[in-house]
Amino acid sequence: MKNTAPIVIGSDHAGYALKELVKDYLIALNLEVEDCGTFSEDSVDYTDFGIAVAGKVSSGDFNRGILICGTGLGMSMVANRFKYVRAALCNDIFSAMMSRQHNDSNLLVLGGRVIGVELAKEIVQVWLKTPFEGGRHKSRIDKFDTI
Ligand code: RB5
Repeated sequence: MKNTAPIVIGSDHAGYALKELVKDYLIALNLEVEDCGTFSEDSVDYTDFGIAVAGKVSSGDFNRGILICGTGLGMSMVANRFKYVRAALCNDIFSAMMSRQHNDSNLLVLGGRVIGVELAKEIVQVWLKTPFEGGRHKSRIDKFDTI
């Protein structure tokens, strides 16, 4: 995969192990990664790391982010509070593809206690390479920013 814009990544303790593996995968793909933590399996609040990563996507500092907690639920709830963030919880490949084609998702959320590393890598790869279709989907997502 060719070099693209840097990706910001973060997790809580339940997503830490998968975050490290996903980070290694991104680096192996020659992508630049900013890791916002957490940096161990000590218990933390997923909220804090969701805020850190989603904030950097919302501000435009990063075009793409990845968040991982146990289920992916808490992280996606936090991230979608941020304007301009379209966080998609994708624990399957079809959802990852559709979240790009139809929703132009800019933040991928994974459940570290739901999926294994090989599926996670496939999901990440599909999410990174699938383009947004635009058209009727553009006017739909534009309405998010009017809320
Ligand atoms: C942590 O125990 C767990 O609640 C968290 O990782 C996440 O799954 C929350 O939605």
